[in-house]
Amino acid sequence: MSVGIKDEPMKKVNEQALEQLRKQLPELQIETAEEVLKDYGHDETEDFNFPPDLLVRPTSVAEVSGVLKWAHEHAVPVTPIGARTGLSGGALSVDGGVGMSMERFNRILSIDEKNLQATVEPGVITQVFQDSVREKGLMYPPDPASRGSCFIGGNVAENSGGPKAVKYGVTKDYVLNLEVVLPTGEVIWTGANTLKNSTGYNLTQLMVGSEGTLGVITKIVMRLLPHPKHDLLMLVPFRSATKACEAVSAIFRAGIVPSGMEFMERDAIIYATEFIGEEPVPLHEEEEAHLLIEVDGNDVDQLMIECERIAEVVMDYDAGEILFAEDQAKKEQLWKLRRRVGEAVKAQSIYKEEDTVVPRFELPALLSAVKEIGERYGFRSVCYGHAGDGNLHVNILKEDMSDDAWNQTIKVGIRELFERVKELGGTLSGEHGIGWVQKDYMDVMFEPFHLDLMRAIKRVFDPKGILNPRKIF
Ligand code: LAC
Ligand code: ZN
Repeated sequence: MSVGIKDEPMKKVNEQALEQLRKQLPELQIETAEEVLKDYGHDETEDFNFPPDLLVRPTSVAEVSGVLKWAHEHAVPVTPIGARTGLSGGALSVDGGVGMSMERFNRILSIDEKNLQATVEPGVITQVFQDSVREKGLMYPPDPASRGSCFIGGNVAENSGGPKAVKYGVTKDYVLNLEVVLPTGEVIWTGANTLKNSTGYNLTQLMVGSEGTLGVITKIVMRLLPHPKHDLLMLVPFRSATKACEAVSAIFRAGIVPSGMEFMERDAIIYATEFIGEEPVPLHEEEEAHLLIEVDGNDVDQLMIECERIAEVVMDYDAGEILFAEDQAKKEQLWKLRRRVGEAVKAQSIYKEEDTVVPRFELPALLSAVKEIGERYGFRSVCYGHAGDGNLHVNILKEDMSDDAWNQTIKVGIRELFERVKELGGTLSGEHGIGWVQKDYMDVMFEPFHLDLMRAIKRVFDPKGILNPRKIF
């Protein structure tokens, strides 16, 4: 087995090799200042910091290719780095080596209104891309909570989702074609700029969600949609969090596909309210959880009918008084509250975030399992997430737990949670990826031969295991 695919650190960059890199790519921006490296040593995952030994900021495909060829020759680890908003540690330079920041690949190269497609570089901020296509009446739906700062390349690497995924799908559903620099330095286009493609193995979709372990993405061709003209937003309180989860699948079974269906536990709302310093929701004593539900489309009367139907359905699940967002400002405030939950919880306590996902109907069982396991292992959790996708973010708070319990016992509890998730037909991560923090649980989902098959694929792309080593496996 080659280096890097084993779970042990790779060697660091030596002076001689670095000199050679400078000579081969004289224009390449190389940073070695400690504070810069430290800054690029973290993402949004817990409190990890793994600085690279040097940071490069390439501006061309030739530079990316040059660095990878050099790294392959010298067996130096390279970690692709985006906006550092990831939640599974995918961009951490765990073995040092080269951090390759893609921030200077920040151009939207074309928006093709004739074909409803766009070609972008990976360092474009997701929301900047969304706003640019919006100006042309088009929509790029995937909208992770961090869309104001995350990069589209990171979204592709992690196959990110967000609230709109419930109706419109996740990042993979929009990626048509990718320009990728392989770990050995060759450059390929993975597919074609077509809506259909049955030509050979689907390397485009293999790349999506591969967490920067198979290649460095340098161009992305996305498909786009016409932007719907209207949306309506409602916030529904529930006395029972389990009943809120039960209502989720009932709404779909009533024939409605909302464009957002988000679950927030009481504490998630309390923390986010504190965090944003606004109080968009009147929180009553007896309310355990809320669903934030959006519908969108071109016919506002039809949307009103859908909202009425939703209101009828939720009444069967003991819902309280529904808040309809009466204007754009209120909609934005409610979405802000939802999007900030993650950061708000992080501000409360050291925490671990699990990104569990189950078939939608099993959501109530998942929530019960989280709480029951939490009680047995002595941890408190704050749950929220994309209920319509069965995707529950479980934030486990350290609070006054001892370091020992936090570092040891909790892992046993998390393993048990994942085993339950598997029994429910779900899996470890819906949208945050495996990266550095979930890899110890991969054996819950996959038999050894299955993991070996994945490792073998990795080796075909990256024989020396230099690219983003020790992630996923
Ligand atoms: C969210 C991020 C954490 O849904 O995925 O807020
Ligand atoms: Zn999420």
